[in-house]
Amino acid sequence: MCMERAFQPVTLGPLTLKNRFIKSATYEGFFEEGIPTQGLTDHHAALAQGGVGMTTVSYGAVSPEGRTFHNQMYIHEGTLPALAGVAEAVHRAGGKISMQLTHCGFFSKNKEAGKPLGPSRLLNQYGLLNGLPFSKEMDRDDMERTAGHFALAAERLAEAGYDAVEVHMGHGYLLSQFLSPATNRRKDAYGGPIANRARFPLEVFRRVKERVGHRLAVLVKLNMSDGFRGGLTVEESSYVAQELERLGADALVLTGGFTSKTPFYLMRGEVPLKGMIQNGENAAEKITMALFGPLIVKKYPFTPLFFLDQALQIRRSVKMPLAYLGGVDGREDISRLMDAGFDLIALARPLIHDPQFLLKLHTGEIDRTACDRCNECVVEMDRGGVRCVK
Ligand SMILES: Cc1cc2nc3c(=O)[nH]c(=O)nc-3n(C[C@H](O)[C@H](O)[C@H](O)COP(=O)(O)O)c2cc1C
Repeated sequence: MCMERAFQPVTLGPLTLKNRFIKSATYEGFFEEGIPTQGLTDHHAALAQGGVGMTTVSYGAVSPEGRTFHNQMYIHEGTLPALAGVAEAVHRAGGKISMQLTHCGFFSKNKEAGKPLGPSRLLNQYGLLNGLPFSKEMDRDDMERTAGHFALAAERLAEAGYDAVEVHMGHGYLLSQFLSPATNRRKDAYGGPIANRARFPLEVFRRVKERVGHRLAVLVKLNMSDGFRGGLTVEESSYVAQELERLGADALVLTGGFTSKTPFYLMRGEVPLKGMIQNGENAAEKITMALFGPLIVKKYPFTPLFFLDQALQIRRSVKMPLAYLGGVDGREDISRLMDAGFDLIALARPLIHDPQFLLKLHTGEIDRTACDRCNECVVEMDRGGVRCVK
């Protein structure tokens, strides 16, 4: 089968995309005091103009306490006009738009939100220097309130003209913290075997689906593995995928890695340590990064299609639409993924490097991305907005 199939339309529940390409969520940093700037609109409009079927706005915190730091954007009345503007611009450019629904869980240095919430009481290395050393184990009220926040955020996005939402169950954020045996040490019905650890993430999914499923496609970004011993395994993730299929998820975007432990497992390539040190918020953070950065931030060499083996295991366990994500390099990879039965292809860095990547690939102007995975774009997120420096 050729690459052409990837450029054909695909239907995900109530939504039809003009092609099978999704711009994967990458933290944009186009916000001022938590309000999206024109940069966010321009960024996503450029991606839509470059021909991607659907672009994904990243890290839409569902509540103030779902933010990893205090001036991060969250979905509420104050941000909706700007978010609606992004959707309008994307539609005008012929694309569809999704928003990633997130909650940081214990991975927080957001002092204003108070003690971070988590599946268990956990040491919060990320917030240590900001006076937030431990998380609080969520009780039933916390869970009920948080699930409500996810559903309300999705409804607000439907009103703002969004076409889809992506419930984030990956990368070590709250729902992924519940899934992971490393961070979920609960003794109740929400901890222990994977059927229990998945209970709260699945409840959240169900609430979102019930609220907006008739209007929006509801996708899930799902960890296949956390990338360290004692973390979520692909076998456990297959179970979660099957449950999400049963509950009517419109597609899964497959990923892995845990931001507080294995941040570069999810993207691979260079660790841009120098810029990360410079971006530290205070002197203590900078010094800690300079001294311990190489130990804390493990490097994983880049290889094309680095999640393929794991994604094939998930492919064999469900029939629902799956988006392959991770190291898609060009024409050959896309054909291979179509042949392997993936329904969608999600990309991040090739589209940060060049929003016109897909158009150029389709016309034959290029065969593969020129992105070298230097990952300096990660540093740029905190320097006025994500961009390729090359
Ligand atoms: C600059 C940057 C920011 C990212 N921010 C997010 C994010 O906010 N949410 C998320 O789910 N993934 C995020 N990711 C991960 C990407 O969505 C994707 O999973 C990863 O880059 C692998 O895909 P690629 O090889 O096509 O780049 C980010 C990646 C990069 C490079």
